[in-house]
Amino acid sequence: MDVRIDKRGWKEFPAEAVIVGAFEPSPDGLLAELNKLLEGAVTPIIRKKEFTGELKKHRLVSTLGKLPAENVFLVGCGRREKFDTEVLRRVSGEAARVLREHGIKHVATTLHLLPVKGATMKEKARAVTEGLILGAYQFTKYVTENKEKIRELKSITILEADKSVEEGARTGKIVANAQCWARDLVNEPPTVLTPTKMSEEALKLKKLGVRVIVFDKKQIQKIGLTALLAVSAGSSEEPRFIIMEWKKRKGQPLVFCGKGITFDSGGLDLKPARAMSDMKTDMAGGAAVIAAMRAIAELNLPVSVVGIVPATENMPGNRAYKPGDVIRAYNGKTIDIGNTDAEGRVVLADALSYAVKHYKPKAIVDVATLTGACVVALGRVAGGVMGSDSSLVNKLRLASRACGEKIWEFPLWDDYEELVKSEIADVLNVPKRNAEAGVIAGGLLLQKFVGSAPWAHLDIAGPARMVDKKFYWDKGGSGFGVRLLVEFAKNTR
Ligand code: BES
Ligand code: ZN
Ligand code: ZN
Repeated sequence: MDVRIDKRGWKEFPAEAVIVGAFEPSPDGLLAELNKLLEGAVTPIIRKKEFTGELKKHRLVSTLGKLPAENVFLVGCGRREKFDTEVLRRVSGEAARVLREHGIKHVATTLHLLPVKGATMKEKARAVTEGLILGAYQFTKYVTENKEKIRELKSITILEADKSVEEGARTGKIVANAQCWARDLVNEPPTVLTPTKMSEEALKLKKLGVRVIVFDKKQIQKIGLTALLAVSAGSSEEPRFIIMEWKKRKGQPLVFCGKGITFDSGGLDLKPARAMSDMKTDMAGGAAVIAAMRAIAELNLPVSVVGIVPATENMPGNRAYKPGDVIRAYNGKTIDIGNTDAEGRVVLADALSYAVKHYKPKAIVDVATLTGACVVALGRVAGGVMGSDSSLVNKLRLASRACGEKIWEFPLWDDYEELVKSEIADVLNVPKRNAEAGVIAGGLLLQKFVGSAPWAHLDIAGPARMVDKKFYWDKGGSGFGVRLLVEFAKNTR
């Protein structure tokens, strides 16, 4: 996507479509002005109240040669008091998606000029750019028939732009492109995006100055990442342990760990077909970490961040790990396998132990599509957050508010400890017949592997995949977590 800026306003700019927003319930001023410019062409819309500024409602109006732009796209922005940078991002995304579907290739926008309480012009321009790029996203790589019907948005121009708009657009472009890359990785078929392929994608970050280290199966064996090996044992695909270092600052780094299960069949505790069909998404946490590292490098953030992704399939092959097995993780703690489908926490046990031992992190944040229970609790609207360090959790919540990716906290009270108690090992990956407090059980297990490091866990099982087209989301991988991690890294010097 080509992102441009221009000093002209919407009445002067010759775009295929200019996007203009209005609030509910009174877009009257805008409509009257437009009606005058178009010599009465908007009268029916006004008379029939066809555009009221309601969110998700829009009108494409042809200018019939009376303005330099061919069309004006009126976008409902909802109630003025609810309008924040996330709503701005959402209406921008909606506009991009709808205009793309109309076959429009080049759009210009004025949405950043709308008032948002507490937001700078730079922040607004960033939100608009992100919304437009994310909203224009589609995954069409595997379509071979009627390719000519695929419509693409090629450029966006932000109007009445100054220096701060330019800066915001630049940041927005980097972050949104990284998020689209995470979506691509999630949307790839699982037999294409294997652990090896995932590591090759991560290696692309080298050209941005990120140090990327990939351990293959032999090295994983030698180092002793046995929990990762156990989960990968049932698969004919080799596991990979991916490490990405961006060290632009002295001192202890932040570490991001992402669950990289490139396909989760459940293992011997095989999932039913219904639950398995979307399980290529199970590397979305890993994809978010890899893509966030890309954005952090492209933004040249003066921070020290390490990304770690344990990547493997979870398959029921004849060497597969079994319910009842006891696995020794990298830090020596033993895990009683109650269910082979609770594999994310097992591979993350190794990754977190590795991070603690080798990086002495100032904070660790893990990102994982960890539990179906989190989808039940929060739907696709928000990820779960929990952690040992309230100030870290609060920093994540602040970043969440700033970037629009919603998270909601779950408690890790001692009262729940029995959920991870084993009779034969140090911890139990999941109680055999217990379906209670699943999100928390996942968090509590991970906590056993972070030692005393400040740590937080993001369960993104819900928002990692969207089931509807809406605002700036397409169906499929959402790239959730990328904006959150980048924002968090930016604020944590
Ligand atoms: N990858 C799944 C969690 C998941 C479920 C993500 C639905 C996205 C949508 C995870 O590995 C898993 O299978 N968890 C089990 C845990 C259970 C065995 C305790 C679950 O949630 O059912
Ligand atoms: Zn699973
Ligand atoms: Zn899983």
